Amino acid sequence: MCYRCPFDKSYPSCDIDCARSLEDVMLKQGPDTIGGCIVEPITAGGGIIVPVPKHYPMLQEICNRYGIYLIMDEVVCEFGRTGKFWGFEQYNVDPDMVTMAKGLASSCMPLVGHVRGKGLFCGLERVKDKATKEPIIEAEMGRIIGMVAAEAC
Ligand SMILES: Cc1ncc(COP(=O)(O)O)c(C=O)c1O
Repeated sequence: MCYRCPFDKSYPSCDIDCARSLEDVMLKQGPDTIGGCIVEPITAGGGIIVPVPKHYPMLQEICNRYGIYLIMDEVVCEFGRTGKFWGFEQYNVDPDMVTMAKGLASSCMPLVGHVRGKGLFCGLERVKDKATKEPIIEAEMGRIIGMVAAEAC
């Protein structure tokens, strides 16, 4: 399902120009300067926009061509919300990384995710103390970010 095509085209005659246009952006920026391409399987913030089936396979092919990681932000679509465990499973695509967050407990309880697996995994856990893994509260984040910003100046 497309919505307000920025190229003023209609699916399927558009040839998925929206995915192809990302290749132009990558080439303009320089693929070696791009760490990853992060997308939501189904965008929710500006309306529920469900990409057409060929969109992600095409995007993955483009990312693979330039050695750019395809990262799926599953914060909204994760844990069965689209009818499959991960939202990306609705598509014929195999992302290099997935992100997940609060959907793990749907705000019903404080729950911390711990991901284990083979392959590429990179995680950042904001904790007060590495040993206890006690999480940093939002109020403290402002202070820490301020300190980091001050150090960078
Ligand atoms: C798609 C998406 N990604 C990332 C986030 C950030 O999640 P968190 O604040 O739990 O890290 C949100 C927050 O709602 C989101 O909707």
